[in-house]
Amino acid sequence: MNENPTVFVCRDADELAARAADRFIEAARAAVAARGRFTVALAGGSTPEAMYALLAESPRREQVGWVETFVFFGDERMVSPNDEERSNANMARRVLLDKVPAGQVFPVDTTNTPDAEAAAHAYATTLAGFFGLSSSGPPPIFDLILLGLGDDGHTASLFPGKPALDVVDRWAAATPPGVLPPPVERVTLTFPVLNAAREVLFLVAGDKKADALHGVLEGGANPATHPAAGVKPATGTLTWLVDEAAAAKLARGSA
Ligand code: 6PG
Repeated sequence: MNENPTVFVCRDADELAARAADRFIEAARAAVAARGRFTVALAGGSTPEAMYALLAESPRREQVGWVETFVFFGDERMVSPNDEERSNANMARRVLLDKVPAGQVFPVDTTNTPDAEAAAHAYATTLAGFFGLSSSGPPPIFDLILLGLGDDGHTASLFPGKPALDVVDRWAAATPPGVLPPPVERVTLTFPVLNAAREVLFLVAGDKKADALHGVLEGGANPATHPAAGVKPATGTLTWLVDEAAAAKLARGSA
């Protein structure tokens, strides 16, 4: 288990986006070379948007094997995929995913299912089908999972104190909203999937994240109160790409 994540402190959010985009390219290249494809679960929220935009334009766009890339989502809000303000898939599609063949992007179905529980079940079935697994067996192994950190210590849609934190027998779970907006039900990948990844990359920027980041990395945070502390890949690598503002309360230096 990865007890000592790499923490890289970037000057600002722009450097963070550039380093994250370059890490994405490296992970994609290694995955395609090793297994002929690259499976990635994207983070939602606002932080990764700048990274996705860099990947969508030259020179980085040409450095990713988009035809070998298969895109999933770490979590999704139960809103229409046309909701430009709140849908994670909408943001990613708008900024980046027109580069990926349509049949290789797997959003959470938030419209054709009655509720988040059904959407979570359907997403686990999608994962099982793609990875050729039984959804009651070991979790899928993503080449890369991108994650953000909420001011309250959440990641994906694993919110403090919510039952989804305790789900170990399902790959996706429904959850009521946390305290941070938007106040809608969500579907989230669960810890077993996050911790099975070959690589997990957190992207954290801004002074509002400083307390949560310190709590997770140095404050001995309990995953029940700071769910991001529960992300400890069993065999994969864990890297925190943070900017100086978010790192302001960390004792450690940069990597
Ligand atoms: C979501 C995200 C969530 C996000 C954090 C950080 O659906 O909101 O998956 O986990 O990564 O809340 O969000 P920002 O990047 O907007 O600060």
